[in-house]
Amino acid sequence: MPKSKPRNSKPKLQNDLILRAARGEKTETTPVWMMRQAGRYLPEYQAVRDEHSFFEVVGTPELACKVTLQPVERLAVDAAIIFSDILVIPQALGLEVQMVPGKGPQFPAPLTEPEEIERLTRDPDLDATLGHVFEALALTRRRLDGRVPLVGFAGAPWTLMAYMVEGGGSKSFRQARRWLWAHPEDAHALLGTLADLIAAYLVRQAEAGAQVVQVFDSHAGLLGEKTFETFALPYLARIAERFKAAHPGVPAIVFAKGAPYALDALADTDYDAISLDWTMDPQAARNVVGGRVALQGNLDPCALYAPPEKIRRRVGAMLEAFGDEGGHVANLGHGMLPDHDPRHAAAFVDAVHALSGRVRAEA
Ligand code: CP3
Repeated sequence: MPKSKPRNSKPKLQNDLILRAARGEKTETTPVWMMRQAGRYLPEYQAVRDEHSFFEVVGTPELACKVTLQPVERLAVDAAIIFSDILVIPQALGLEVQMVPGKGPQFPAPLTEPEEIERLTRDPDLDATLGHVFEALALTRRRLDGRVPLVGFAGAPWTLMAYMVEGGGSKSFRQARRWLWAHPEDAHALLGTLADLIAAYLVRQAEAGAQVVQVFDSHAGLLGEKTFETFALPYLARIAERFKAAHPGVPAIVFAKGAPYALDALADTDYDAISLDWTMDPQAARNVVGGRVALQGNLDPCALYAPPEKIRRRVGAMLEAFGDEGGHVANLGHGMLPDHDPRHAAAFVDAVHALSGRVRAEA
C-alpha cells in the first residue's frame, strides 16, 4: 500500500521515461504505450461498458479514471492516456454526437453547409462544457500516484472538421473535403475556431494534470501535400505554439496519420515528437526530421494478431529501425482494435521492455 500523503502533495514521478524520450533524450530503456490502450479488447473495460454508455464513461470522472488505469495495471505500459474522445470538442461547440454500436460516432445534425457554422456556440466556457475531463485528469493523476506520466489529448482541427461536416466516419470524407474546395474561406474560419479552442483545451489539460499531450490528426492522410499545407499544418502549428508557450516543459506529440509528406514541415513546428503510422519507415523518417524532433511508433496494430513470438521479433526489428540514439517512444502505428487479444498486447509491451534492456518487474 502506498504511504498516505498530505492532500495536494505532488507525488514524485517514478517513471519519467516517456517525458525524456519525447524530448529527444536517450533513455535506459524505450518507453511504450499504445493508442487506444483502454478499450473494448479489455474484458475489464467491457464490464464497465455493460453498465454504462460510452459517453457516460467519458463524462463521469470516476469511471473515466477507472478505465484509464486498466491498461496501466494489466500491461505495465509507461504512460496512461486519459479516457475521453476527440469528439468532446464538437460537443462543447454545441453539436450532438452519438456513439452508435457497430457504426461508431454519428452526428444527427452535421454542418452540411457553411451557414450552419452559426449554430456553433461561440467561445464555449471550457470548465462548464469539459470540466469533467479536467476532473478526470486530476483524479487520475492522484490515483496514479507517480507510477507513470499521464497523457492528455485532443483531435486536430482538420480531423474534427471532417467528422463535424461529414456527420460520422467515412472512407473518403468527401463532404468535408468538398468544403475545402467549394468553401475555402468558411473552412478556414471553422478550422481557426477549432484550433483556438483545442489550444486552450490542451493548456487546461496540462493545468489539470496532463504531463504529455498528443494531437490526433487521424484523417490527415485524406488531404495530400498541398492541401495539408493549407488546411492542416498552420492550425497544428498554432496549437503547438500556444501550448508550448504556456507549458514549455510538457512534451507535445503530433500524429498525422497517413501523411508522410508532412514530416519535414511538422518537424519545424513546436511539437517535441511526431508519431509515425505503420506505413512509414522509421529510418526514412529519421533522415527527414534529423535531430529536430523525437519519434513515436509504429508497429502495425494488425501485427498483434500474430503469435507472441512473432510479435517479439517484429518489435526487435522496429526498435532496430528507430536506432539507439534515443528520442523514441514505442507505440503502435494506430490504435488497438476491439478483437485484439490482451495477451498479445502484453507481448508487445513486454518485448519493448525486454529487448530495449529492461527485464519487466514481476507483478
Ligand atoms: O487511447 C486511449 O486509450 C484513450 C481513449 C481514446 C478513445 N478515443 C476512446 C474510444 C482516444 C485517444 C480516442 C481518440 C479518437 N476518437 C480518435 C483518434 C485516434 C484514432 O483512432 O484515429 C478518433 C478518430 C476518435 C473518434 C472515435 N471514437 C471513433 C471513430 C470511435 C468508434 C470506434 C469504433 O470502432 O466503433 C470512437 C469511440 C471510442 N473512443 C471507443 C473508445 C474506447 C469505443 C467505444 C465503445 O466503447 O463502444
